[in-house]
Parts: sequence; structure tokens; C-alpha cells
Amino acid sequence: MSSNIDLVIFGARGDLAKRKLLPALYQLDKAGLLPDSTRVAAVARENIDTVEFIKHTSELFKDLYDKDKWDEKAWTRFSRRLHYIKVDFSQKKEFAGLKQWVVDKRTMIYYLATPPSLFGSICKHLDDAGCVTPTSRIVLEKPIGHDLQSSEQVNGAVGQYFDERNIYRIDHYLGKETVQNLLALRFANRMINSQWDNSCIDHVQITAAETVGIEGRWSYYDKVGQLRDMVQNHLLQLLCMVAMEPPSSLKADEIRAEKVKLLRALRPICEDKVEDHAVRGQYSAGWISGSPVVGYMEEEGCESDSSNNETYVALKVHIDNWRWAGVPFYLRTGKRMQDKVTQVVIVYKDNPHSLFPETEGEANNKLVIRLQPNEGIELEMVSKKQSLKERLKTEKRTLNLDFFDSSGESRIADAYERLLLEVMKGDQWLFVSRDEIEASWHWCDRLLASWRDKKVATKPYSAGSWGPSRAEILIENDNRSWQEE
Ligand code: BG6
Repeated sequence: MSSNIDLVIFGARGDLAKRKLLPALYQLDKAGLLPDSTRVAAVARENIDTVEFIKHTSELFKDLYDKDKWDEKAWTRFSRRLHYIKVDFSQKKEFAGLKQWVVDKRTMIYYLATPPSLFGSICKHLDDAGCVTPTSRIVLEKPIGHDLQSSEQVNGAVGQYFDERNIYRIDHYLGKETVQNLLALRFANRMINSQWDNSCIDHVQITAAETVGIEGRWSYYDKVGQLRDMVQNHLLQLLCMVAMEPPSSLKADEIRAEKVKLLRALRPICEDKVEDHAVRGQYSAGWISGSPVVGYMEEEGCESDSSNNETYVALKVHIDNWRWAGVPFYLRTGKRMQDKVTQVVIVYKDNPHSLFPETEGEANNKLVIRLQPNEGIELEMVSKKQSLKERLKTEKRTLNLDFFDSSGESRIADAYERLLLEVMKGDQWLFVSRDEIEASWHWCDRLLASWRDKKVATKPYSAGSWGPSRAEILIENDNRSWQEE
């Protein structure tokens, strides 16, 4: 990594900066991974100065970290890097203040933790103020648009000032250890990759279940829904990592090209198939971990009498290529579900002929790739039961690869630590290319249009459940069932 790197965070007083970006930079610094000379400019509209900003950040960190883990020395070192610069993002002339801080010969990383509607104008003002050089990088948070057309506009506006090789589009799922481990699991293990296709795999399930609701974002979320919030980005990225063809190397361009091919091979869910292949749900009041929670329409900030917005999606997806012909991928994600679970389950086919009647008709092998909780990989297998009395009785056993135990680290790094490190290194392998974003919107737009044209209504589900019963039917129609814990 070059040592001449500085970071500018736009939206430095916002939630993302407070919860993720500043803590991630602090952790990187603490681990000795930030170059000594790296400076961090926190940019926002509020009229405060650097001293006040540092004071707020120290209070924030003291709330975030246990008292006994607080490292005063590491904090002092990190706080010296921080500078607060007041900029009203809509005012061109206010970027002059930032220009004074920018040093031409250093690589500037501009992180836009702002609403996407500001991306284009911030890039323009940066360029007008002379803050953009051929080495400057820009980091964009999701959502990039709400459909293909609007994402093209955002990408087009940013692309006027930054070359694609300097644009880093965040999908924080790609920063998670287990998602990166999918590459190692799939492509470093002959035993796994030789059986990674329709000859051995019956189907794949991808679940991202959350217990949280919409966290005070009702008016935003009601225009977005779970398909745009979670499927278009995180679930489709997971699907890519599970199903793409092996790249010829681990270079960013090679990996990203394979993901684009996969996204383009997704079979569209058209109007005639939409009822059988896609379920929309909306939570009603219920219980989570023994406490009552309100329904979507009773959430704080709800402004309407009715809403057909989905807080849950279940999909049956087909990939039209040689490897995956005939293998369904079942995807589901929802708010206010029973547990917080994010996992991929690979369900292998049954044996062609069964020697063990007790295992007949069920999948003997399942590979569970868990992102949260307890990051790790489990392989379910059948083994002989240890017993003198029984002749050859079998039982299910699990081979367990627990990341936390094996890493030797006292903590697993947050996704944003990894992502910020990769931006600083100038490696785009964990970032989403323009082609990927546009291919995924193209597919989601088709599904959204099918829902709209067929007037598909959301099905209610109780908070604290696993989603609407219609989602059970979606998979049970194929004589399969969702893999819960
Ligand atoms: C975000 C969504 O991108 O991902 C949120 O906007 C969601 O609605 C979050 O809660 C889930 O992330 P994670 O890492 O907790 O699974």
C-alpha cells in the first residue's frame, strides 16, 4: 500500500460514519495497518470545529468499547489524524475549504456516506474545486439507484469525474470473512469444486433473516422494500460468490467478470411465473425473544393507512447455464424474523441407491456456510453409530470449521475494516462493478414489474416467525423445506 494516502468522509456526522467508518479506521490504526502519515478529514454541514469533533468521537468510542478494552494510547494516536471540515455539500464555494486541506501529490480517497442523490453534485464540486486528480478514488455507499435507469444516472454522473478503476461501490456483505472464504472453500478444495454442480447438488438455500424491524426508517423503507434493500445487492452478491464459474485468477477484474456472467444468466421471473416463484410478505405484531413488537403499519414514522410494501421476500431462482441447469436456488430475507441468521446451505442429492433405510429419502450431506451468528462452515455427513449391539446403524454427524476458534484472533474484523483497507490498497476485488450493479437491477426490475402488473399483494406474517406460510408452500411444492437451525 502506498503510504501517501488520505481519507475524506462526507457525511461524517451520520449514522454510518459513527457506527462503522470511524470505528473501523480506529481498529485499523490500532492494528498498525494505517500508514503513519494518513490523515482523515471528517466533512459535514454542522458548524463545529476539529476539537469538538474529536470530543464527540471520543465519547462515541467510549460508549462503543468496554472500559477495560479502552486503549488511550491508540485513541490519542488516531485522534491526531482527524480534522473536521465544515462543508455544505450543495454549495460549490464551500469546497474551497476542503481544497486547502487536499495535498496534490497524495492519493485522496473520498468516501460518500451521504444520500445517493448527492453523489453527482459532490463529484462535480470536488472536480470544480480541483480536488480530483487521476489517482483520486471515490467510495459509494448503497443504494446506487432504485432501478436500472436511476442507477445508470448515478453511475453516469460519478463516471464523468472518476474513472471506473477508481470507483469503489460498497456492498458490505463482501467485506464479511465468510463471504471471502467462499472463494477459498470453492476454489482451493478439489473435493468441493469437483462436486459443485447439478450432478451432485440438489438445491441451494440462501437466507438473510433479521430480527430488527425498519429501525426508524419507515418513510425511506416504504419506498424501497426488502427486494431493493437486501436482494438486489447482498443476496445477489452471495449468490454470485456461490454460483459463479471459477475465475482464471484472483484479480479483481477476473472475479467481477465472472459475477457479471452469473447475473446475466439469472432467469427472469416473468408475470406468468411470479406467483409460484416469488413471495412478498409484511410483518404484523408479534413477539421476538419474549418481547412484544409492533407490526410494520404501527411502526414509528408510519405515515399511511395502508401499504403494500414488502418486508420479506422468498424467491425460487434458476440460473440458465450448463453448471446449474435444473438446480433451484431458494432465496429468502426478511425483517422481524425469529432469529438473526445469514447462511448459505448447499443440499446435496440423495444416493442413487440406498443401503441404509433409515437415511432414505433425505439429504445425507449438507454444507452450511454461516455468515452470522458464529461464522463458520459445517458439513453434515452420515457416519456409523458406535455400538456393539447394532450391526450397522448410522447417524448424522457434523464436521465443523469454526472461524473464531481457528483464527487465533481475539475478534473477527468488521466488514468495513476489510473494505477500507482494500480501498487504501487500491484493490477492487471486494467492490461491485458498474456492470454488476446494472445486471442485478435489470433482473430485479423485471421481478418488480411482474409484481406490479400482477398486482401481487404482500402476505402477512407475525413478527418473530419465519415468514408467511406462502413461503413454505413455495419450497414445499418442490418436496423440499427451508433449513432452519
Ligand atoms: C443493509 C440494509 O444494507 O443491511 C439494512 O439496508 C439491513 O436494512 C442490513 O438491516 C443488514 O446487514 P447485516 O450485516 O446486519 O446482515
